[in-house]
Amino acid sequence: MTRIALPPPHFSLQIQHSLEKKASLRPFGQYTPTMWKPSERLMDTIRHYASFPATGVSLRQMVQFGDRPSTGTLFRASQFLSEELPIRLAHRVQDLGELPDGLSEMPSIKRVQDWYAQSFEEIIALPRPTLTQEVKARLLRPGRINGGPSKILSETTQNPSVREGQYRSSVTAANGNGVAKAHAAAGRRYFFPADDRGDWPPELNDYNQRFAKTLQQIKRRHDGVVTTVAQGILEWKRARQRMQIDSTIQSFLDRFYMSRIGIRMLIGQHIALTEQTHVKHPNYVGIICTKTNVRDIALEAIENARFVCEDYYGLFESPKVQLVCKEDLNFMYVPGHLSHMLFETLKNSLRAVVEQHGADKDEFPVTKVIVAEGKEDITIKVSDEGGGIPRSSIPLVWTYMYTTVEQTPNLDPDFDKNDFKAPMAGFGYGLPISRLYARYFGGDLKLISMEGYGTDVYLHLNRLSSSSEPLQ
Ligand SMILES: Nc1ncnc2c1ncn2[C@@H]1O[C@H](COP(=O)(O)OP(=O)(O)OP(=O)(O)O)[C@@H](O)[C@H]1O
Ligand SMILES: [Mg+2]
Repeated sequence: MTRIALPPPHFSLQIQHSLEKKASLRPFGQYTPTMWKPSERLMDTIRHYASFPATGVSLRQMVQFGDRPSTGTLFRASQFLSEELPIRLAHRVQDLGELPDGLSEMPSIKRVQDWYAQSFEEIIALPRPTLTQEVKARLLRPGRINGGPSKILSETTQNPSVREGQYRSSVTAANGNGVAKAHAAAGRRYFFPADDRGDWPPELNDYNQRFAKTLQQIKRRHDGVVTTVAQGILEWKRARQRMQIDSTIQSFLDRFYMSRIGIRMLIGQHIALTEQTHVKHPNYVGIICTKTNVRDIALEAIENARFVCEDYYGLFESPKVQLVCKEDLNFMYVPGHLSHMLFETLKNSLRAVVEQHGADKDEFPVTKVIVAEGKEDITIKVSDEGGGIPRSSIPLVWTYMYTTVEQTPNLDPDFDKNDFKAPMAGFGYGLPISRLYARYFGGDLKLISMEGYGTDVYLHLNRLSSSSEPLQ
């Protein structure tokens, strides 16, 4: 079988992880095994930060930055993030330490917990510049956007796809004094245009650069979180002889991965804005594309999924996929998220079609991808004739580690040292993680099956872009 030479931009999490590792040219193991251990004092600070709730940001707010924020505006965003990220990281450290049934004790879970604690420490320990009173006052003065008077940051709206508190940053954050602290947190803002008349002192730019560098390092450290947590669950299943994960662990994982999507979004966005890497690409603000072309991304995802399918089943030609989508359908989104969700659902459909009809067939029924444009949502339906899913198994497809692949591909922590082939299926992460991506920006992922015939997956993407990250 051939190996994948050039992977698509947003391959499955496992692949992406292994590639980022290679691209970074760091010897694997730089951060692991971590000799680093949190001190008692650090754990106290973490507990304090974890008593504050996370502050959700909306896609629209992220875009309000404009594509070239000034030094002052970036500095204000760094200030926000230097409080917000430690809060989010602290929740994760606590959550990882309070898992039921001995899960917290599993070596891979402990390792991930240490990564979060170490990243927390790196952010809070980053020295801040000493600023004159004048600069401080100027930073507090609202600036102007596009020459006009500054508008206050658009308000976030309740995320329509989640129940309030469903992915709350922690189980306990809303209790007791959490409410008072929520009010305190509401005073903090992600984006606040600074008064940009005149130059900023060089310390500000220095700090921005150092802050972005720290974030780079943190992002890289956490590349392997999904696979390492999955490994931790496998360790626990083996140690405790468990077959299924229960609802407490399922909601922990939902919370945990949702939070990871948010942290990586904020970090990725901030790095891109600081480095201005996106300015070569029109329509980009950081990693957000204000004119994400749905058709282009769908075509690419189809091609990639078909390629992996051919490779996995040794087919001359994978089952066909028909795309119905207006050519100029654009909306504001993170292209990487959209490719991920489409690639995962298409892989599932192609696998179902091949397995239902037999890999030796000459012709397979065509899978249809239909894109509809509404005022509120863009909806993408992926319709296959892969035999569907029994109704009793539907709730299971949303649980982590549920897969009908007999042998889960190896999750050896060293796997990414080797050439890694794109998995067709087998981790049972494809659907639950894709649904988190969809919900993160106010969309949703639904699945309807006709057992004996096929499955329809509906991917709803919210166009209004004002909904908050579902962390409250
Ligand atoms: N279109 C589909 N038709 C039939 N069964 C499906 C379809 N999509 C998902 N399933 C079932 O749901 C299970 C879980 O899907 P999911 O994508 O979450 O995990 P996976 O495909 O097994 O592994 P991976 O994490 O690599 O995606 C699959 O193993 C399969 O049994
Ligand atoms: Mg899958």
